[in-house]
Amino acid sequence: QEGDATAGAAVFKKCVTCHVADSDTNKVGPSLNGLFGRKAGTHPNYAYSAGMKAAGEGGLVWDETVLRDYLHNPKGKVKGTKMAFVGVKDDQEITNLIAYLKQYSK
Ligand code: HEM
Repeated sequence: QEGDATAGAAVFKKCVTCHVADSDTNKVGPSLNGLFGRKAGTHPNYAYSAGMKAAGEGGLVWDETVLRDYLHNPKGKVKGTKMAFVGVKDDQEITNLIAYLKQYSK
Protein backbone atom coordinates (compact mmCIF):
# COMPACT_ATOMS: atom_id res chain seq x y z
CA GLN A 1 0.00 0.00 0.00
CA GLU A 2 1.14 3.54 -0.73
CA GLY A 3 2.22 5.87 2.03
CA ASP A 4 0.38 9.14 2.61
CA ALA A 5 2.89 11.84 3.55
CA THR A 6 0.18 14.12 4.95
CA ALA A 7 -1.05 11.38 7.27
CA GLY A 8 2.59 10.66 8.05
CA ALA A 9 3.07 14.24 9.25
CA ALA A 10 0.44 13.53 11.92
CA VAL A 11 2.24 10.32 12.93
CA PHE A 12 5.51 12.28 13.17
CA LYS A 13 3.95 14.17 16.10
CA LYS A 14 4.90 11.07 18.13
CA CYS A 15 8.54 11.87 17.33
CA VAL A 16 8.80 15.66 17.53
CA THR A 17 9.65 15.92 21.22
CA CYS A 18 12.94 14.28 20.29
CA HIS A 19 13.47 14.66 16.52
CA VAL A 20 13.24 17.12 13.66
CA ALA A 21 13.20 16.04 10.00
CA ASP A 22 13.29 19.37 8.16
CA SER A 23 16.68 20.58 9.38
CA ASP A 24 19.97 19.24 10.75
CA THR A 25 19.18 20.24 14.34
CA ASN A 26 19.67 17.54 16.96
CA LYS A 27 17.30 17.50 19.94
CA VAL A 28 17.07 14.70 22.54
CA GLY A 29 17.46 12.47 19.47
CA PRO A 30 19.43 13.01 16.25
CA SER A 31 18.00 14.87 13.26
CA LEU A 32 16.16 12.55 10.86
CA ASN A 33 16.93 14.79 7.88
CA GLY A 34 18.42 12.67 5.10
CA LEU A 35 17.72 9.48 7.06
CA PHE A 36 17.26 6.99 4.20
CA GLY A 37 20.55 5.55 3.03
CA ARG A 38 22.36 6.83 6.11
CA LYS A 39 24.42 4.49 8.27
CA ALA A 40 23.00 4.18 11.79
CA GLY A 41 24.63 6.37 14.41
CA THR A 42 26.34 8.81 12.05
CA HIS A 43 24.48 12.14 12.09
CA PRO A 44 27.08 14.85 12.89
CA ASN A 45 27.36 16.40 16.36
CA TYR A 46 25.09 13.91 18.09
CA ALA A 47 26.16 11.74 21.07
CA TYR A 48 24.80 8.31 20.14
CA SER A 49 24.72 5.32 22.46
CA ALA A 50 27.47 2.75 22.06
CA GLY A 51 24.76 0.35 20.87
CA MET A 52 23.64 2.59 17.99
CA LYS A 53 27.23 3.29 16.92
CA ALA A 54 28.01 -0.43 16.99
CA ALA A 55 24.92 -1.14 14.86
CA GLY A 56 26.16 1.27 12.19
CA GLU A 57 29.67 -0.11 12.33
CA GLY A 58 28.12 -3.54 11.91
CA GLY A 59 26.52 -2.39 8.65
CA LEU A 60 23.07 -1.16 9.70
CA VAL A 61 21.83 1.39 7.14
CA TRP A 62 18.43 3.08 7.43
CA ASP A 63 16.04 1.89 4.75
CA GLU A 64 12.29 1.27 4.92
CA THR A 65 12.58 -2.29 6.25
CA VAL A 66 15.16 -1.44 8.90
CA LEU A 67 13.18 1.60 10.07
CA ARG A 68 9.97 -0.46 10.25
CA ASP A 69 11.71 -3.12 12.37
CA TYR A 70 13.25 -0.46 14.63
CA LEU A 71 9.93 1.32 15.17
CA HIS A 72 8.18 -1.96 15.97
CA ASN A 73 10.68 -2.68 18.72
CA PRO A 74 13.54 -0.15 19.12
CA LYS A 75 15.46 -2.00 21.82
CA GLY A 76 14.92 -5.35 20.08
CA LYS A 77 16.32 -4.10 16.76
CA VAL A 78 19.26 -2.08 18.15
CA LYS A 79 20.70 -3.59 21.33
CA GLY A 80 21.60 -0.86 23.77
CA THR A 81 19.81 1.99 22.00
CA LYS A 82 19.01 4.86 24.31
CA MET A 83 15.87 5.80 22.36
CA ALA A 84 13.26 5.68 25.15
CA PHE A 85 10.20 5.29 22.95
CA VAL A 86 7.65 2.50 22.93
CA GLY A 87 7.63 2.53 19.12
CA VAL A 88 4.85 2.38 16.55
CA LYS A 89 2.94 -0.87 16.14
CA ASP A 90 0.60 0.01 13.28
CA ASP A 91 2.11 -0.82 9.87
CA GLN A 92 -0.02 1.68 7.95
CA GLU A 93 1.11 4.44 10.33
CA ILE A 94 4.72 3.45 9.68
CA THR A 95 4.12 3.39 5.90
CA ASN A 96 2.72 6.93 6.11
CA LEU A 97 5.58 8.05 8.36
CA ILE A 98 8.09 6.69 5.83
CA ALA A 99 6.39 8.71 3.06
CA TYR A 100 6.65 11.80 5.26
CA LEU A 101 10.33 11.24 6.14
CA LYS A 102 11.24 10.54 2.51
CA GLN A 103 10.36 14.15 1.71
CA TYR A 104 13.40 15.06 3.82
CA SER A 105 15.74 12.47 2.33
CA LYS A 106 17.47 12.97 -1.00
C1 HEM B 1 17.38 7.59 17.45
C2 HEM B 1 13.39 7.45 14.68
C3 HEM B 1 10.72 8.84 18.48
C4 HEM B 1 14.74 9.57 21.02
C5 HEM B 1 16.54 7.39 16.38
C6 HEM B 1 16.92 6.90 15.10
C7 HEM B 1 15.80 6.84 14.33
C8 HEM B 1 14.71 7.31 15.12
C9 HEM B 1 15.71 6.39 12.88
C10 HEM B 1 18.36 6.54 14.68
C11 HEM B 1 18.89 7.72 13.87
C12 HEM B 1 20.34 7.63 13.44
O1 HEM B 1 20.94 6.53 13.41
O2 HEM B 1 20.89 8.69 13.12
C13 HEM B 1 12.33 7.85 15.47
C14 HEM B 1 10.97 7.98 14.99
C15 HEM B 1 10.20 8.31 16.07
C16 HEM B 1 11.09 8.44 17.20
C17 HEM B 1 10.55 7.80 13.54
C18 HEM B 1 8.71 8.49 16.15
C19 HEM B 1 7.86 7.58 15.52
C20 HEM B 1 11.57 9.18 19.49
C21 HEM B 1 11.17 9.76 20.76
C22 HEM B 1 12.32 9.95 21.48
C23 HEM B 1 13.43 9.51 20.67
C24 HEM B 1 9.75 10.10 21.17
C25 HEM B 1 12.49 10.54 22.87
C26 HEM B 1 11.68 10.14 23.88
C27 HEM B 1 15.81 9.07 20.30
C28 HEM B 1 17.17 8.99 20.80
C29 HEM B 1 17.94 8.42 19.77
C30 HEM B 1 17.01 8.15 18.65
C31 HEM B 1 17.67 9.44 22.17
C32 HEM B 1 19.41 8.06 19.80
C33 HEM B 1 19.49 6.56 20.05
C34 HEM B 1 20.88 6.01 20.38
O3 HEM B 1 21.89 6.70 20.23
O4 HEM B 1 20.88 4.83 20.79
N1 HEM B 1 15.18 7.63 16.38
N2 HEM B 1 12.37 8.15 16.80
N3 HEM B 1 12.95 9.04 19.46
N4 HEM B 1 15.75 8.55 19.02
FE1 HEM B 1 14.06 8.30 17.94
